[in-house]
Amino acid sequence: MKANIVLLPGDGIGPEIVAEARAVLDAVAAEFGHALSYETHLIGGSAIDAHGTALPEVTLEACRRADAILLGAVGGPKWDDPAAKVRPEQGLLGLRKAMGLYANLRPVKPHPRLLSASPLRPERLEGVDLLVVRELTGGLYFGQPRLRETRADGTTRAVDTLEYTDAEIRRVVALAFRLASGRRKKVTSVDKANVLESSRLWRQVASAVGKDHPAIALEHQLVDSCAMRLLTHAREFDVIVTENLFGDILTDEAAVLAGSLGMLPSASLGDGKCGLYEPIHGSAPDLAGKGIANPLGTILSAAMLLRHSLELPAEAAAIERAAFRAVDEGVLSADLGGRASTREMGEAVRARLGSHA
Ligand code: IPM
Ligand code: MG
Repeated sequence: MKANIVLLPGDGIGPEIVAEARAVLDAVAAEFGHALSYETHLIGGSAIDAHGTALPEVTLEACRRADAILLGAVGGPKWDDPAAKVRPEQGLLGLRKAMGLYANLRPVKPHPRLLSASPLRPERLEGVDLLVVRELTGGLYFGQPRLRETRADGTTRAVDTLEYTDAEIRRVVALAFRLASGRRKKVTSVDKANVLESSRLWRQVASAVGKDHPAIALEHQLVDSCAMRLLTHAREFDVIVTENLFGDILTDEAAVLAGSLGMLPSASLGDGKCGLYEPIHGSAPDLAGKGIANPLGTILSAAMLLRHSLELPAEAAAIERAAFRAVDEGVLSADLGGRASTREMGEAVRARLGSHA
């Protein structure tokens, strides 16, 4: 097949990890006989430097034409001025919103070899296999009003708003149920319904969607309790579906289960085929340019790209198997307690692609 992929390396370690993931995609394409073409565009801080905006029109236009988008990371100390009007994160948030990518899939399945890389006891990690579906274009990230004002008496106030419509909740929860039907058939809907009105609506809509899926067990959990259970009873989760900021926080926490934030991929999906694929970690400015960042989160995101946007499940599985084996055989970057460079990790995955199951 032919596909057009937009690469958005972004800032910090972004270009290094995206280069490895692209090389893995090329190797898979060669092996399976696909023609992948790429366009590379600016986003985030590097786009601010070149164009004065974190999401230039040319970047967004290219993404709208693409079959799929692979992103590295955005942000860095250079653009971190809290008073700045333009920020790198606006590029990513704007792209998710403009493309209608309302569901962010973040799978967490600790590799057996990495159990000791987690500060949690191994018996808490064994058998963990969960998928967080984070709502991505609404909630506290996008609600209005959103403002900061200084009053005449000198006090300053700032407002963010947690806002959802029933339709916004329904579409992401429905996707969580569809995904659960191909897994262990359990959905945990996470909210703060004991306090927040938006969460009471969330819970009501989730229950209604649950009625359409009698074969799938639905449980509701409060977000504070979920945060705790992720560390004490992670094995009990299958699919977790939740509000934008709750999902942001819970997935960084869940990364502790996997031993490193560097391991976790994500897929952001909407109603169309084109998705945005990115590791869940940030731009790690302290590692940038050193060639030591872990590229597996991005490489595994490329696998998700093949599965969800290009409908190439065998090719996706080939990457996942190769990455699993590389780690299994001890090819580990610094975050995993090893010494492999970014390039060596990428090469280790490519070298293991040929070995079909
Ligand atoms: C993530 C990141 C982003 C988010 C930042 C960079 C805006 O933390 O993808 O989890 O908060 O969504
Ligand atoms: Mg985050």
